[in-house]
Formats: sequence, C-alpha cells, structure tokens
Amino acid sequence: MAEDHPLSMVTCTAPINIAVIKYWGKRDEKLILPINSSLSVTLHQDQLKTTTTAAISRDFTEDRLWLNGKESDIGHPRLQSCLREIRRLARKRRSGDNKGTGGGESSPLSLTYKVHIASENNFPTAAGLASSAAGYACLVYTLAKLYGVEGDLSEVARMGSGSACRSMFGGFVQWIMGEDADGKDSIAEQVAPETHWPEMRILILVVSAEKKPIGSTAGMQTSVETSHLLKHRAEKLVPEYMAQMMRHIQRRDFEAFGELTMKDSNQFHATCLDTFPPIFYLNDVSKQVVRLVHRFNDHYGKTKVAYTFDAGPNAVVFMMEETVAEFVEVVKRSFPPENNGGQFLKGLPVEAVTPPEELLSAVVKDPAPGAIQYLLLTKPGPGPAVVDDGSCHLLGPDGQPRNSSG
Ligand code: DP6
Repeated sequence: MAEDHPLSMVTCTAPINIAVIKYWGKRDEKLILPINSSLSVTLHQDQLKTTTTAAISRDFTEDRLWLNGKESDIGHPRLQSCLREIRRLARKRRSGDNKGTGGGESSPLSLTYKVHIASENNFPTAAGLASSAAGYACLVYTLAKLYGVEGDLSEVARMGSGSACRSMFGGFVQWIMGEDADGKDSIAEQVAPETHWPEMRILILVVSAEKKPIGSTAGMQTSVETSHLLKHRAEKLVPEYMAQMMRHIQRRDFEAFGELTMKDSNQFHATCLDTFPPIFYLNDVSKQVVRLVHRFNDHYGKTKVAYTFDAGPNAVVFMMEETVAEFVEVVKRSFPPENNGGQFLKGLPVEAVTPPEELLSAVVKDPAPGAIQYLLLTKPGPGPAVVDDGSCHLLGPDGQPRNSSG
C-alpha cells in the first residue's frame, strides 16, 4: 500500500538546554506563559540529543507516536497543542499567501492525512537528564519541516514545554516572557551563537539519586501559589539579572557569568524552599558539589567553575576549557567512581593530569565513593537540524518504527 501512496518523511534532531537564569512559574498554564524571562545555554548534540522522525501518508488511519521505541499516548494535551498549532499554521500558509502548494513534497490534501511520529533520546531517561525541552523542540521542528511551516517556531515549542522554546536555537538563548495574553510575544531569541565563546565547557555530574523528585510543572505551580519570594524574584530581580547575564555573555566575562549563574540557581532553590509545602531538589551530594566548587574557586581566588541545578539533584558545572582536566580530577577524587566497570567520564575527551598537592589538600574533603554515577563533558552547540541521511529515519518505509520494543 505504501507503494501506491508514498509517504512524506522527515527526521530532525534537537538539543537540550540548561538555564543560567531560571524559568520557574507560569502566568498562563495552558499557553505556558512564564512569570519571568529566562536565559540558557544550548548543549552540543554530539553528546546529548533527541531525534524525531515524522511521516504523513494517506494510508495511515490514525495519528500515532512512539517514544524510545514504545508506543505512547499521542492524546497528551501538550502534544496535541503542538500538533494542532503546526497544522493550523500549515493550513494558513497554504490558503493565505498564494503559495498554494507549500509543504515540500506533500500535496495540499495531505493536511488531512494522519501522522506517525517516532522520537528517541541518545541519553538514558533514567539518568535524570530527560529533558522534555529537547523532545518538544524536536517534535515541533520536525513537524514544521514535514508540513512546510517556516518562521519562528519557538512559540509553538513553548506550548509543549516552557524550556523547549529555548532549545529551538543554538548557543546562548533568551526566552522573553512577553506581555500579551495570547502569548504571541513570549518567544525565544538567540543572544549569541555557540561559536561566540569557544572555550566554554559544561560538565554534567549525574548524581546517583534514589527517588524521582516532583516534576517542574507541578512544582512551579505550587511555588506560584505559595511563595512570596518567587513573586519578588520574578518581578524585581530577574529583569536586572537578564540584562547583566547578557552583558557577561557579550563580554565573555566568565567570572561574572559564573557568579551570577550560581546565585541564580541558589535563588531558584531558595524559592523552592519558600514554597509551601517546601520542595527539595538538591540532595546531600548536590550540596557536596556546591561546597567543592566554592573550595576550588576559593583556592584560586576567583570563579573558575560555576554550578547550576534544575529540578533534580544533578549538577551542571560551567568552566573554561583550561580548567577541565584539573577539575575533573578533583571530582574523581571527591567522588571515587564505583560504577562497576561502566565508563565514568563520557562525552568530550579529557586529558589526564595530576593536580598540585596543595590544591588537592585544600579542595578534596570527605570523599563520597559512588555518589556520582558518571560525568559527561560537553560544550555549547547549535540548534535543531534536519538529518539528510535517510538511513537515520526512525520509521521504516511502511511508516512503522524501525526499532520497536512493543
Ligand atoms: C528548573 O520547562 O520543564 O529547568 O513548562 O511545565 O514543561 P513546563 O516546565 P519545564 O521547566 C523547567 C524548569 C527548570 C528551569 C529552566 O529550564 O529554566
């Protein structure tokens, strides 16, 4: 049957991002409009990415979705918002501006066809890195390519997950909160491309966590309802932080960038503690990492490394390339690996060094074996991209997943 009606198929990849000025709290739950602007660094897809294939065919009888090889609920309201919005934009484009036959190879009729979507992460969901940001960014980007929709799609990605709108661009990205009730001005924008700061490195410390923390969507809702500190932060502090952070990035001032990154992360976690009942995302290991970073910086008398934490215990540590080898060694000695033969250091290669004795004695205190599962080194990277190589499609020529686990 697929021979009679060939399908249109597109595969794309999208990155995750890590916020240095955090988004926490919505003023509109349905449209996902935030109470403050935020700013993030897009991580390189050579290390972490989501891949999505979407196909349309006259032969498909229903919209279907597979996540990491497993059929999943395509009826999820946020997913439906994105799908509906892309189809609406495609319809508008075709009827509106006399471009009648937009949509690549697909005919105008194809808007009524059903879609099959398969999506996979190249990182384990269990590692707590599972970012819905990359997932929704990839979904929206892929659907837009499939349906021939152009222009700024961060607004559509935002409807999937707030942080996803920032994954629509590479490098350093701000999400402008906007003012409009319909969210038209709540969009992401690139502040600087990834090439702007080539020495920047990002080390993710995956903490061995025993239980899953409360999700960001529910967590931030309670914070908005109960935390006066969050309201103060969003209204009075973040606007100035945003301006400062953009300046630090423009000037490539790592010390100022790092200090503000740590303070903003600490303030976000303070608003979680100010939430009632309180929310705890940092665990003892996260706090050990915080202390280690401060001891390291104190030893050098300047900010050489800077942590940030999202809604979970994993630490993300920024530094310049020249600091990586030494800091990694310090981390290894503070959290001796116990990962049963698995690789402890993943991602970009790290040179082995022996740090000076006075650094080690000043910085390494009370080693905690096995407390960190593994390290992943990455750097700022580009935004979503189309994969041209047809062998990378996650769906076969019949529109069914190639690697299905049921
Ligand atoms: C702590 O974007 O996951 O990572 O919009 O409800 O999907 P929803 O929330 P989400 O929240 C991210 C929160 C954060 C900070 C950030 O990424 O800015």
